[in-house]
Amino acid sequence: MLALAFFTFFLVAFGVPLNGGDSSGVMARDQSAESKFQGIDWSKAVNDCNSSQLAILERASWVAVTEMLNPSNVGSVGGDNDFIFGWFFGQPKRWKTKYNSGVFNRIKNNLKYPYNFVWKGRQPNSNQDVTQRLFYTCSESSTTPTCQPGTNAYVANPAQSKDGQWAVTFCPDYWTQLEYADRLWDKKMAPRVSPSQLNIRRTYEDELICQYMQVDIMGFHNYSDPSDPNPHIGQEWDTLYGTYQPIQGAMLANNFAYLDPGTVNNKTATNLDSYSLFFLAKWVNKKYGGVWNNAQSNYWDAPDPDGVGGSPP
Ligand SMILES: *[C@@H]1O[C@H](CO)[C@@H](O)[C@H](O)[C@H]1NC(C)=O
Ligand SMILES: *[C@@H]1O[C@H](CO)[C@@H](O)[C@H](O)[C@H]1NC(C)=O
Ligand SMILES: *[C@@H]1O[C@H](CO)[C@@H](O)[C@H](O)[C@H]1NC(C)=O
Repeated sequence: MLALAFFTFFLVAFGVPLNGGDSSGVMARDQSAESKFQGIDWSKAVNDCNSSQLAILERASWVAVTEMLNPSNVGSVGGDNDFIFGWFFGQPKRWKTKYNSGVFNRIKNNLKYPYNFVWKGRQPNSNQDVTQRLFYTCSESSTTPTCQPGTNAYVANPAQSKDGQWAVTFCPDYWTQLEYADRLWDKKMAPRVSPSQLNIRRTYEDELICQYMQVDIMGFHNYSDPSDPNPHIGQEWDTLYGTYQPIQGAMLANNFAYLDPGTVNNKTATNLDSYSLFFLAKWVNKKYGGVWNNAQSNYWDAPDPDGVGGSPP
């Protein structure tokens, strides 16, 4: 019998929501064929999600995978001037030292795995096809109810199994608490965006990326080795501003990355929100066509063809 490990990600929205009106063009990406996702098995979702839920999953998966996770959109990662990497993981220059470069390379690999798996159906760091795909489901098994207020979705990882029946279960809150990224980050509504505003509300897409990162085959868990020193990617906790708290949101993720003055924080390598908001930030940066102009005003507001943001702090 398989032991199932459930990893639940609780989201807390804080700040004042942007008033997002309806924006035309939102439906433009709805044409995605389910079959294009080599790593997703839609058969459960087709049965147990209703038509509006299925439409959200298709569109959000399309944007999350082909726009946010797609390496050609993310641009160069971890270069000395990759300010967005620096914001979420710590200064690239500090990571490149002798003792830290191993973890640095792992972070960079982790940033590639979800796209390889979900879009191409490939195992991490290899050209081999995955043997099992990731299921989506909108219906909880009655024996292990995990959905509750505050939980948008969760992942089932068959422990230590390469051939896992990985599944993302979408909870009632997923449909009511989130918004499409391109409705929240629309220049008409929010002409300038600062990193702190990534905390305002969460999106269908970054929540999906959180789920992908928790699937062990994508989150660099070494399923061949039960004593794997590489831990699962999940929510890290630490004491910030005198309070022991989960590291959620762009501001806490940034503080967490710079917790130890002058060096890196290895635990960013396993913090879920550092990854999902990194992808969201890269996407917003590209969408706004701007530099994350830290020196001036913390806004994206100038052309940035490389998609790396402005100067590191
Ligand atoms: C789908 O289910 C949600 C509740 O989860 C409900 O609010 C919505 O109206 C349903 N949509 C359709 C088309 O049945
Ligand atoms: C991070 O982890 C690596 C390898 O495990 C270790 O060599 C390095 O000293 C650690 N760095 C910090 C700043 O803790
Ligand atoms: C996983 O663990 C096995 C067994 O300890 C080891 O041979 C292999 O190199 C590890 N793979 C990775 C990617 O760390």
